[in-house]
Amino acid sequence: KKYFVSTFRPGYVSCKDVVLPKYFQLFGDEIRKMDIRDDDIWVCSFPKSGTTWTQEMVWCIANDVNLETAQEFLPKRFPFLEHSPLFDYRELMSKNPEIEFPDYVLNSVDYVNKLSSPRFIKTHLAFKLLPTKLQQNTTNAKIVYVARNSRDACVSYFYHCRLLEGFTGDFDKFCEMFLHGSVCFGPFWDHVLGFLNQKQNPNVLILKYEDMKKDLRNIIYKTADFLEKNLTDDQVEKLLDHLSFKNMKENRAVNYEPVVEINKKYNLIKENGSFMRCGKVGEWKEVMNPQMIEKFEKLEKEKLTGTNLSF
Ligand code: A3P
Repeated sequence: KKYFVSTFRPGYVSCKDVVLPKYFQLFGDEIRKMDIRDDDIWVCSFPKSGTTWTQEMVWCIANDVNLETAQEFLPKRFPFLEHSPLFDYRELMSKNPEIEFPDYVLNSVDYVNKLSSPRFIKTHLAFKLLPTKLQQNTTNAKIVYVARNSRDACVSYFYHCRLLEGFTGDFDKFCEMFLHGSVCFGPFWDHVLGFLNQKQNPNVLILKYEDMKKDLRNIIYKTADFLEKNLTDDQVEKLLDHLSFKNMKENRAVNYEPVVEINKKYNLIKENGSFMRCGKVGEWKEVMNPQMIEKFEKLEKEKLTGTNLSF
């Protein structure tokens, strides 16, 4: 983990071989013991795999494409379970007493526990760190997992970490960290394979970012089927438009601009950039050097041998 400590915020821990912020230790037990409800819908992913896109799709499908109610800030209607453990807000709040964070940020686990049904929950936790009852599939709760090819996920995560996580190293350094499994929520392939192992479970749907880019209509139908929802042709058209990259980039309910703005206001970030960056498949070809590509390809081949998954 030597790559990690020098350039990232200090204070990460390894929990069942997953890299997590040390504050996670305060919430791990509570998360493990969480009650799961039959009508819960979970969106799980490795960071930067199209989580937000998938969340918005799932939420809209489950809510009959009601774009009025979809105007509410996504993290409020579809909270990030381990948001609080990601960052210790106490110092920031003690220095800036006027600052007020909502519950879904400060007490995200509690917020999720108290949400009214049906709950929509986002998590980047590895399958083995999910609440025990969710892992054991003892309810009818549904999991939609979205995976993205490792190279684009890495490029996207690099920009994300420079923008929002205080990462100051260069791209090659970040790639090495990614390959070594040292970035937060890593290792990447353990994450993907942990969920892929569940693909026979009828309550788990595995999607790929690349398929969403290629044929979103098809993925909408597939997801609607999985969620047992019937959409009219009109609703599907409306949703396709709502979920386009251009519209999501402009949509403050989902584009995380308010988060970037508050981070800037309190000098937590110095970089310019946005959460919705380019939304492309294959950007890695433009930014990774041949040696790095080879390393990614070698690892991918090793990890995907014997699975039906390919990118
Ligand atoms: P890029 O950084 O490559 O642009 P997550 O939500 O898991 O953090 O993933 C963020 C990535 O998904 C970003 O990738 C973002 O641009 C992309 N994304 C978000 N909405 C999208 C959409 N409607 N179409 C395509 N990509 C989208």
